[in-house]
Amino acid sequence: MYYPDDLIEEIRLKNDIVEVISDYVKLKKTGGSYVGLCPFHNEKTPSFSVSPSKQMYHCFGCGEGGNVFTFLMKYENDTFIEAVTRLAERAGIDLPKAKYTNEEKIERDIKAAILEVNKEAAKFYYHQLRSPNGEQGYKYFKERGLSDETMIKFGLGYSLKYSNSLYEYLKKKGFTDDIMRESGLIKYSEKGVYDAFWNRVMYPIMNNANKVIGFGGRVLGDGKPKYINSPETKVFDKSRNLYGLNIARSSRRGNMILCEGYMDVIALHQAGVDNAVASLGTAFTTGHAHIIKKYTDQVLLTFDSDGAGVKAALRAIPMLRAAGLSVKVINMRPYKDPDELIKNMGKEEFEKRILQAENAFIYEIRMLMAGVDLKDPDEKTGFYGKVADRLLLFPDEMERNVYLDAVCEEFMIPKESMERLVYKKSLTYTGEVVQSRADENKKNTKKLDDGVKQSQKILLTWLIEDNTIYEKIKTIITEADFIDPFYNKVAALLFEQLRNGDVKPARILNNFTEEKEQNEAAGMFHASLSEGLSGQEKEKSLNEIIKKVKNNSLDYISNTTTDVEVLQNTIKEKAKLRNLHISI
Ligand code: UTP
Ligand code: MN
Repeated sequence: MYYPDDLIEEIRLKNDIVEVISDYVKLKKTGGSYVGLCPFHNEKTPSFSVSPSKQMYHCFGCGEGGNVFTFLMKYENDTFIEAVTRLAERAGIDLPKAKYTNEEKIERDIKAAILEVNKEAAKFYYHQLRSPNGEQGYKYFKERGLSDETMIKFGLGYSLKYSNSLYEYLKKKGFTDDIMRESGLIKYSEKGVYDAFWNRVMYPIMNNANKVIGFGGRVLGDGKPKYINSPETKVFDKSRNLYGLNIARSSRRGNMILCEGYMDVIALHQAGVDNAVASLGTAFTTGHAHIIKKYTDQVLLTFDSDGAGVKAALRAIPMLRAAGLSVKVINMRPYKDPDELIKNMGKEEFEKRILQAENAFIYEIRMLMAGVDLKDPDEKTGFYGKVADRLLLFPDEMERNVYLDAVCEEFMIPKESMERLVYKKSLTYTGEVVQSRADENKKNTKKLDDGVKQSQKILLTWLIEDNTIYEKIKTIITEADFIDPFYNKVAALLFEQLRNGDVKPARILNNFTEEKEQNEAAGMFHASLSEGLSGQEKEKSLNEIIKKVKNNSLDYISNTTTDVEVLQNTIKEKAKLRNLHISI
């Protein structure tokens, strides 16, 4: 479904953010904005601020922020289109009738019907667990240390001993055999129709909108298979969902804990570790890694400490790293998994283990070393070679050197030998290009240091806060000077509005669909930089920031261009910049 930008913007303009949010949060006017208790995290003093002039909200406590659409997406778990529809209705705007093809319509109806079946099934299992028939299941969960509250929070249930009780129940509710089959909950054989799950404790699997998309079911004892899971269906894509993410996504812990099992996630949440997720009875994929990256930059792994768990961790680490995540590994020994560790040693011990988590690279090397006899010269040489190979995977020389130092220290490898080995191997290395420091400066398009980013961010905030600055700097700074990809996107949108003399920060947010980008942009637009500064101080810092942004942009050009004329021009511009002074 797609609506034109102008229509989206009309809907946004007709829904005043203060009015909309007031339906959910009690707001109080202070100065130019409204404040209240943040609905996205627990707090006692208000740090949630809504700006009527910018039509945006931002929480100074947890960093959530956005425009009126984002608010509903987060508060109501709406998709963007659902938020648009809700607000169009509120403002009395007629949306054009959705133009679906017949097939799309059928597909949509099937998906909705499967979700409906799943919801009914989850209710059925949930009630059975709490009925006399489900006593065994209830006892099982209790014996595993789960509180009633936890069972409710995760919607846990029980499937009865009879092999068709769900089928009979759903039939009475009016579902067709076809839809039941599509949901994977009901199966067919020559002998007839039967439930996919019976005599198992049930774990509903929810998506981010808290809709049940599938189930895991565990035997009560030691039977096999231990777990069975719903098959993939039109609403259940195992590589795009993680168990527990519907809760973990709004955790404030700042990272995410990735574990192997349903019970691990549940035990961690019960212990107050509310940022735990698990892949769904399938191997971890790069798809999962990218989903995690939407919410955080750091992952802590707590895979089982047995052989299979180590193998799975060694598979997952490079995928997580490739998605741009920093990875650490939590040591669970002598226990098998987080569930057992917490049960035996308590949550304080788990928190301690988090603090002691080991860098994933060191972990990888340690595992590599596990089977090696270092007293045997050949094995030792082979091991050093493998370490060097792994070090060469870091394209950034500085990072590689840091790791080389750390690994040599940790495993008592002579540093100079390792340096020589890495250098020697780099000459014939065929993987990603290993760059010398000089090269690296030239090609360093990706890693901008934080200071560079920071100055771009400040300048953008400044332009939003005081639009008159634009007239004064427009001959010096353009959107192209914002070389960080994210700020470049914001700058392009903002400069267009500035050129048209119609600045609407909240409209810019319509262009960001990723939660992290929305938060970042909203925070940036909401900040106030010049408050409390004298005119003179303001002028001084503005000049510094402009010079910094422009200088970085010129450096970037001169490092990447091969055109002599362009190069000469940047040198001239740099000279000019030194004498620049803008008065405000
Ligand atoms: P584990 O075998 O490590 O079990 O499987 P566990 O999570 O510790 O389970 P408990 O504590 O004995 O109840 C890890 C995960 O792998 C999937 C499940 O998602 C499980 O949580 N799995 C395991 C299956 O899908 N099927 C199986 O037969 C076993
Ligand atoms: Mn377990």
